[in-house]
Amino acid sequence: MQLPALHIGELTARVPIVQGGMGIGVSLSGLAGAVAREGGVGVISAAQVGFNEPDFMTNTVEANKRALAKQLKKAREIAGDGIIGVNIMWRGQHYEDYARCAVENGANIIFSGAGLPSDLPDCVEGTSTKIAPIIGSPKAARVILHLWERHHHRTADMIVIEGPKAGGHLGYTREQVKMHESDGYEKEIEEILDVVKEFEEKFNKKIPVVFGGGIFDKKDIEHYLSLGLSGVQMATRFVATKECDASDAFKNMYVKAKEGDVTIVQSPVHMPGRALLNPFVKAFRQHRIPVTNCFHCLKTCDPATTPYCISMALIRAVRGDVDHGLVFSGANSWKIDKITTVHDLIQELTQDPVDETIPTDASDKTIPVEQVKKQA
Ligand SMILES: Cc1cc2nc3c(=O)[nH]c(=O)nc-3n(C[C@H](O)[C@H](O)[C@H](O)COP(=O)(O)O)c2cc1C
Repeated sequence: MQLPALHIGELTARVPIVQGGMGIGVSLSGLAGAVAREGGVGVISAAQVGFNEPDFMTNTVEANKRALAKQLKKAREIAGDGIIGVNIMWRGQHYEDYARCAVENGANIIFSGAGLPSDLPDCVEGTSTKIAPIIGSPKAARVILHLWERHHHRTADMIVIEGPKAGGHLGYTREQVKMHESDGYEKEIEEILDVVKEFEEKFNKKIPVVFGGGIFDKKDIEHYLSLGLSGVQMATRFVATKECDASDAFKNMYVKAKEGDVTIVQSPVHMPGRALLNPFVKAFRQHRIPVTNCFHCLKTCDPATTPYCISMALIRAVRGDVDHGLVFSGANSWKIDKITTVHDLIQELTQDPVDETIPTDASDKTIPVEQVKKQA
């Protein structure tokens, strides 16, 4: 099956794959630019994006804004006219500053999860930047679309459903994650599509809905398209690419991971998260890891009581100190066995496998290519 293009208003991604934003520093211009160049939607994570700026520790917000502008410029150079988005966590401090910075520097779309981004429409008003909330339930879809209708007289340009197999912070309790793992999640998807349909009719506008969490191959993509979705969001598989902006040590954690290494952790964001089991996770499960420097990154974190500093944990991991940092991953990272390129991954996800059989004679029987080679 040829995968259909993903239309987001006047924007068209010829490949219906959104690369999920990955903080801190996992999806920057290298990955986002490459995905957009290959026809998908590339997404830069704005989470502490300035962590490599010299004044990051002392002048965090300015460092982040400066770095976000640089990353958008670089991604655009790589992507040409491909679609570049920015992912901004609603629970982060200075949300509006970063959203406005993304708009001013040419982001095509802003994706926002970890809470309901009620004021996002104000940040893009009068510009062509699209807005896409990331939600995990029919209720969340209804609440945000109602809020935007009532207060901003507009609706979403796209919706991302993040399912329970996603990596990073999850919009579910541990119990809900377990429940969805056993009961499946398709009924929720159907209900969310019904909610979105209501708003499509009200606003006389197509709102594409994409689903993310645990998607691994083309078969998975085709399955979700068959449910009425317009595309998928994938993150974990893009980590294991040369272009991914994380260190090799971070990527190799995915290659080495076994099924039992994928675990649910508590995060200072007050949401569970999915990550790989490592000495750091074992340590903070035993005792609190005191915060030495607070970046004031989260609206909800108290540095005096938090089990660990999430910014420091993610920065250490992305730089390669994978024993002392938090390595977020989706539920299927253990299936990854090699590092590839974005080009090859997109080919694998969009092309049907070559038919490995060739016809023999008029009886129209086929024999496997391997057998032909051996007979020759
Ligand atoms: C390393 C990593 C970091 C992530 N960081 C973020 C983030 O900063 N913001 C966000 O909204 N989602 C984040 N996510 C979730 C992804 O964007 C995506 O929706 C999800 O992981 C999709 O599932 P998959 O990884 O199984 O493909 C992260 C996921 C991973 C694996």
